[in-house]
Amino acid sequence: MSADTPGAEDLQAEARSLAAAVLAALSAAAGTAELTAARAGLFGKGSPLAGLRRRLGSLPPADRPAAGRALSGALAEVEERYESRLAELRASERRGLLEAERLDLTELREPPPPGRLHVITQTQRRLEDVFCAMGYTVAEGPEIETEWHNFGALNFPPGHPARDMYDTLYVDHGAPGSTLLRTHTSPVQVRVMQGQSPPLFVVAPGRCYRQDTADATHMPVFHQIEGLVIDEDITLGDLAGAIETFTTAYFGPGFTSRLRPSYFPFTEPSAEFDVQRPDGTWLELGGCGMVHPSVLEVCGVDPERWSGFAFGFGIDRLAMLRYGIDDLRDLWTNDVRFLEQF
Ligand code: DAH
Repeated sequence: MSADTPGAEDLQAEARSLAAAVLAALSAAAGTAELTAARAGLFGKGSPLAGLRRRLGSLPPADRPAAGRALSGALAEVEERYESRLAELRASERRGLLEAERLDLTELREPPPPGRLHVITQTQRRLEDVFCAMGYTVAEGPEIETEWHNFGALNFPPGHPARDMYDTLYVDHGAPGSTLLRTHTSPVQVRVMQGQSPPLFVVAPGRCYRQDTADATHMPVFHQIEGLVIDEDITLGDLAGAIETFTTAYFGPGFTSRLRPSYFPFTEPSAEFDVQRPDGTWLELGGCGMVHPSVLEVCGVDPERWSGFAFGFGIDRLAMLRYGIDDLRDLWTNDVRFLEQF
């Protein structure tokens, strides 16, 4: 008999159809657990496909080798398909696991933008730059000051009416009324003259304090910059020239300045200085004058040999004008949306 006798063909056909069913089941398995659990039933020893081996013995001996090979081939094919399906499912399960465990980092913010200097600090530094270019150096003095430096040495004797212009905040330290929060930067003039010998070309920027209720144009804390020049033969003309040089350097070539008579106890004569914008309008900037001889004397500078001028003005007000800020309180609320505009 040959391999194409009915018995051998039946067995081979059955092997093909069982193998096809097993292959379909392998493809249908949805996961590695399902696949491995089904393995024995699909093509293990007790499976219908493997069970066909037992029927080989009932075939005519001549047909057995071919039928046996066909059966082994079918078993080898399903086994191979099993392994590849297992690998496929393992890979997809691993991908699923990685996907499930992935950290969603999309909410993490971009690195914060770099900070910047506060608009008042920027303004102060620009002023320092302008005066340094004019040959001045920068000096500092304490914010908690003695009554003597803030008033006495500057020719405001006790009870002097000009003291009332300064809504002074006193500090509970030492004798009552002896210590205060400086109401202007002018006490730095005194400290500079006491500590250094003329010639002096100095500016002193810093914080000042007055008992003021905060509104759009007043703050109890504000900034001033003080200027002091002491040399031989310094005149009012030098003061006017210095103010004019500063005005053009800081504001630009279209700007000019003027002095108007005024009164301060520590200067004689005293003036206020205004800056004229290119459109012709004037803005009041600060006070100035020739340093009073008694101030020179009390600070240890010989008024017979030296003379000088001083000036002082508000930095906050300057920043408001320059940047079009209309409420001083915005400078203190620390709202980045406001601050990052400058
Ligand atoms: N210290 C004065 C004030 O705050 C401003 C001032 C006026 C400063 C005249 C000066 C000056 O140096 O000479 O009102």
